[in-house]
Amino acid sequence: MAQPIALVTGANRGIGLETCRQLLNAGYRVILTSRNEQKGQEAARQLGGSGAGAVFRQLDVAIPESIAALKEFVESEFGRLDVLVNNAAIHYDTWQEVTAPDFTTVDEAITTNLLGPWRLCAALIPLMRKNRWGRIVNVSSGSGSLHRMGSETPAYGITKAALNALTIKLAKATARDGILVNAVCPGWVRTDMGGAGAPRSVAQGAASVMWAVQLPDDGPTGGFFRDGKRVEW
Ligand SMILES: NC(=O)c1ccc[n+]([C@@H]2O[C@H](COP(=O)([O-])OP(=O)(O)OC[C@H]3O[C@@H](n4cnc5c(N)ncnc54)[C@H](OP(=O)(O)O)[C@@H]3O)[C@@H](O)[C@H]2O)c1
Repeated sequence: MAQPIALVTGANRGIGLETCRQLLNAGYRVILTSRNEQKGQEAARQLGGSGAGAVFRQLDVAIPESIAALKEFVESEFGRLDVLVNNAAIHYDTWQEVTAPDFTTVDEAITTNLLGPWRLCAALIPLMRKNRWGRIVNVSSGSGSLHRMGSETPAYGITKAALNALTIKLAKATARDGILVNAVCPGWVRTDMGGAGAPRSVAQGAASVMWAVQLPDDGPTGGFFRDGKRVEW
């Protein structure tokens, strides 16, 4: 295969940025996306700029027109896409009660954490199907596991459970196309979202994502993993 092309959402900081770094180190051509142009440019510069393989592109996953523009860019610039990492997410809502949430927050979480990845997959899977090859990693969370679900972080947990359901449906729909779609929990990671007290580094979190990016062709699809091990739905 020619140098594989990988796209990461929400890549200006945290696990997304570190995933771009690890993708570059592994030899991928990386499309680093960020909703904020300046922060995204700066992140791409940190990784060595286009000379080292990172191309910046503005993308707000909550805005359908932004996704449509990105699709056009990927199609015209590269004509293919091999890896999609749906990393961007918001509202780890520890402050909310499920019995009385702020529904604006819930709505925003659904738009970004579920509809964003869904719209991106709908836009970009045709590019993967063309080559009958692809890897899609939906960055999920143990908070979305129905098995261990509590009442806390309602908007976040429910959107991650829905993202897991989307993962299964996409995996079934693409099972004959050479595309593997998996949900990955990075663990509790020291980022703006995870906080300074989290036990894991961004490198460890991104490594959990990379495992699903680098699956062999006979690897699993439609699963939920952390560090390459299955997590209960
Ligand atoms: N950290 C943890 O402990 C942990 C645990 C389990 C799962 N996760 C998951 O891991 C992923 C990365 O988390 P993180 O800890 O790296 O979070 P983070 O530091 O808060 O970074 C989130 C990223 O998403 C971007 N983003 C938010 N809304 C966006 C939108 N509408 N369009 C494009 N980008 C958007 C942010 O951009 P701005 O800078 O513009 O806000 C930022 O780049 C998320 O899916 C998260 O749910 C994290």
